[in-house]
Amino acid sequence: MLSLPVPNIIGVRLAVCCLDEYRIVSDKIPEGSLIYNRYQIQGVVGQGGLGRIYLALDKTSFDERCAVKEFAPPEDYHPEQIKKARELFEGEAKILHDLAHDQIPKFRAFFEEAERLFLVQDFIEGKTYKELQKEGYLLVEKEAMQLLADLLPVLDYVHEHNIIHRDISPANIIKPNRGEKPILIDFGVAGKLGGETIVGNPLYAAPEHRDFSDRGNCFPSSDLYALGLSIMVLLTGERPMKCRERSYRLELYQKYKFGDRLTKILDKMLAEDPIQRYQSAQKVFGDLGPEYYGRLQTTVVGGRLGTSKELIWKAIAIFLGVVVIGGLLVVVPPQLEERRINNIFNSSVKEARTAIALALNKKIERALQDSETLMDLQNAYGEIGENWQKAEKQLENAIEQLNKIPQKRAEVYLKVQKVLPAYERDLQALSLLSDSLELCYNATNTMTAGKLSEEDRQEVRASFLQVGENLNQIPSDSSFRDRADKLGQICNKPPI
Ligand SMILES: Nc1ncnc2c1ncn2[C@@H]1O[C@H](COP(=O)(O)OP(=O)(O)O)[C@@H](O)[C@H]1O
Ligand SMILES: [Mg+2]
Repeated sequence: MLSLPVPNIIGVRLAVCCLDEYRIVSDKIPEGSLIYNRYQIQGVVGQGGLGRIYLALDKTSFDERCAVKEFAPPEDYHPEQIKKARELFEGEAKILHDLAHDQIPKFRAFFEEAERLFLVQDFIEGKTYKELQKEGYLLVEKEAMQLLADLLPVLDYVHEHNIIHRDISPANIIKPNRGEKPILIDFGVAGKLGGETIVGNPLYAAPEHRDFSDRGNCFPSSDLYALGLSIMVLLTGERPMKCRERSYRLELYQKYKFGDRLTKILDKMLAEDPIQRYQSAQKVFGDLGPEYYGRLQTTVVGGRLGTSKELIWKAIAIFLGVVVIGGLLVVVPPQLEERRINNIFNSSVKEARTAIALALNKKIERALQDSETLMDLQNAYGEIGENWQKAEKQLENAIEQLNKIPQKRAEVYLKVQKVLPAYERDLQALSLLSDSLELCYNATNTMTAGKLSEEDRQEVRASFLQVGENLNQIPSDSSFRDRADKLGQICNKPPI
C-alpha cells in the first residue's frame, strides 16, 4: 500500500538501494504525508542514532496520536553496519510487540513502505528526563526514591522476560504530562540476556558494558548501574562521567546531604564490579523502605482517556479502596500482619522440606536400590507411586502458599525468592519422576500380560523413550537427580 507521495514531488531523497540490500539514505518525511494509508505525519519529535521519531495521527482510529519511528541509520554506515542496525530495529519492534506493561509504550505496527521501514507505537505525552534536566529541573531526594520505586518494577518486568534494556538514561525515560508513572522507551539496543551487545549511550553504560575487550557483556545489574547513574545525575545536575567516580560521588553525597538509605542504594547500584551490585531490581526495591512499596497504581481506564463518568467511577473506586485498606489496617495491626506472613513463610518452608524428605525416604530408596530390572520393581510400584504423589501434592501446596506472600513485605518476600527456585525445580523433578514411574508400570503390565502384538511392543518402546527424555530433563542440582539416575539404570535395558 504505497501512499507516500512520490519521492521527487516531496523532495525526499529515497533509499539509495532497496532495504534488502541494507543501504538506505533518506530525508525526513514532510508534514501531512500519509503512510501506510493510515498514519498522517505531523512532524519530527526526536532524532537518534538509528532512527527518527515522528508524531503522527492514526486516521483509522479517530486521529489518535502515535509515535512513528523510522529506520534511518547514519549515511556513512557500511552495509555490514546497516545490516546489524536493521536487526536491532527489528529487535526493538519484536520486543515492544512481546512486552505488555503500562510503563512501556504499546506496540501498534511494524511495516515497510516505499523502501522505508517503520515502527509505530503509542505516543507518550510528556518530556524526557533529559529535556527536563536541560530546563533546570533537579530531583529532590524523595522524588529520586519515588522514581526508583516507579521504575524498578518495570525493569524487573523486562528482566523477567530475559531482556536487558542496555540504554537506560534520562533521555529514554519520559515523565508523562498527566502525572502517571514514568515510561521507559527505546528498546533499540535491548537484547536477550547474555548475548553480544552494542553499546547504547556510553555515558551511562555500566563499566562491563563499555568494555569491548569483554565483548560488552551485560547483565540485569548493568541496567541497574545505568539507572543508578541516571538518578545520580538527575539529583545533582553533574555530568555522568563525573558521577561514575566513587570519590567524587562521596563528595556529592556529603554536599547534597542525602540520607543513609539513598546513599547506600546508589552506592551499591553504582559499584564498579557487577558482582558487588544488586543482582535484581527486586533487591533494590526491597531496600527502598516500606513507604515506597504500596503506591496506588494510576492506570488509565481502558488504556484510553477516561470519560468524565469513568473518572468519577475511578475516583469512587479509589475512595472505597482507601476506606477498605484503611479499615483493614485498623482491624489488623501491622505487627499481627507481619507475624501472620512470617508464619506462612515458616510453615510453607517446613511443609516443602517434609515433602522432599518424604519422597526421598529410606524405604523408597531401598525399593529402588533392590531392583535391578523393571520386573523386580513390580511389587514396589504402588508404594513408590503413592509416596511420590503425596510428596508432589504437599510440595505444590507449599509453593502455592509461598507465592501468596506479597511483594510489599520485602524482607520475607526476598527470603521467598531465595528458596522458591529450588522448590520449583524439585516439584518439576518429582512430577517427571512420577510420570516416568507410571509409564514403567504400564509398560511392565503390558510386557507381563501375555503374548505381545507388534503394536504393544511399539508402545512399550515409546514408553521407554519417553521415560529417558523425562529423566534427562531433571536438573543436576535437583534433590531428585540420584533417584532419576537409579530409575534410569533400571529402565536402561528394556527387555523387549
Ligand atoms: N513513544 C514515544 N512517545 C513520545 N516520544 C517518543 C516516543 N519514543 C521516542 N520519543 C522521543 O523521540 C526520542 C528518540 O526516540 P528513541 O526511541 O529514544 O530513539 P533513539 O534510539 O534514536 O534514541 C526520545 O528521546 C523521545 O523524545
Ligand atoms: Mg533514545
